[in-house]
Amino acid sequence: MPITPAPAAAKSELVLAIETSCDETAAAVVRGDGTILSNVIFSQIAIHQPWSGVVPDLAARAHLDQIDLVVAQAMRESGVEPSALTAIAATVGPGLVGGLLIGSQFGKTLAYAWNKPFCPINHLEAHALSPRLTPPNQPRIPFPYLLLLTSGGHCQLLLVRGVGDYERWGTTLDDAVGEAFDKSARLLGLPYPGGPAIEAAAVGGNPNAYRLPQPLSRPPNQPNSPENFDFSFSGLKTAMRRLTQELGAEVVQQPQVVADLAASFQATVAQFLARRAQQAAARFMKHYQTERQAAGQQTGLEEGRATPDDQPYLVMAGGVAANQTIRQAVTAAAAKHGMRFHAPPMVLCTDNAAMVGWAALERLIVGKSWPANQVVRPRWPLSELGDSGRTAATA
Ligand code: KG4
Ligand code: ZN
Repeated sequence: MPITPAPAAAKSELVLAIETSCDETAAAVVRGDGTILSNVIFSQIAIHQPWSGVVPDLAARAHLDQIDLVVAQAMRESGVEPSALTAIAATVGPGLVGGLLIGSQFGKTLAYAWNKPFCPINHLEAHALSPRLTPPNQPRIPFPYLLLLTSGGHCQLLLVRGVGDYERWGTTLDDAVGEAFDKSARLLGLPYPGGPAIEAAAVGGNPNAYRLPQPLSRPPNQPNSPENFDFSFSGLKTAMRRLTQELGAEVVQQPQVVADLAASFQATVAQFLARRAQQAAARFMKHYQTERQAAGQQTGLEEGRATPDDQPYLVMAGGVAANQTIRQAVTAAAAKHGMRFHAPPMVLCTDNAAMVGWAALERLIVGKSWPANQVVRPRWPLSELGDSGRTAATA
């Protein structure tokens, strides 16, 4: 069902959005000019902490407890009347089925009661478009750009060509990068979520204290070729487990040992992500310049007199993008090939409903359609969004 507003009116369109795909119950009201009128997030970290990871049943129960309160708060804080909304959006996949059902049913029910269209949103598309959710007085990141999505559930490298036009260059073969942080933190006796705990512990540590294997750096199948953009973290996780077992529980309790292990782990992940970012930036820039020249557009990059304004973006999103060591490594890797680094503000980097509302607005503004009666999809490849045949991304 296409809901196409007149272009001039697009900036004033208002969407109420719901996000419940993992362990955040979130609702937001966003306007087509990039204004976030409200962005409410109930984090379930305290609920899952004793289990050192997300427990799907507990997550679903918590979403059910919170959804009406969170949505009511988002509407109240926005000051928007239901009648002024253009549409109601909710994440319908990929993610944990319980949360997806609760959030999307709640959204559909409101849409029915308020007589508004319902926009089923793909969570990966919401992350992919989130860097463009900038306030009205700030420039919008132009297409195309590279996205390095690094969270507790994903580790993907995507080319974002336009709304609904994504190409996946690489994905994790096993664990997501945030998951590797969480599991390694557990081995070091650090709390959940492991990422911030490892980053804090690593501050006083020596990143060269322990040698950990660089993921996918050896045969078989020439995984180190410049065209391989996949990720893997299970080998690194196993190496951390062996190392902590060899050192023994008593030694691993010593603060300096924990700091050195945390710093060594973090440095290894940073090097790996930076290696992939550098490969991807090289490939991106090759095509970018060729395409620009073919279209008769000069970017300044050709003559070597590019200003920073000419440089395209490599964007990092997801919880792991909070890590300063990783950010610095990825920024330097992108710069080597003339790409600018950008990460949305943390609140838009981690799971939130504002990005879901924004994805709905971007689709609405360019007149993209939604499948009628879209059901929840725990696995929902970006390639199956029903857009142009060029998309090749999978969950
Ligand atoms: O995007 P996110 O908030 O939620 C989803 O996974 O959807 O990401 C959470 C993940 C967790 O695995 C957490 O350990 C990791 O992001 N994380 C970090 C840092 N902050 C959060 N990893 C490394 N360094 C951090 N500072
Ligand atoms: Zn996410």
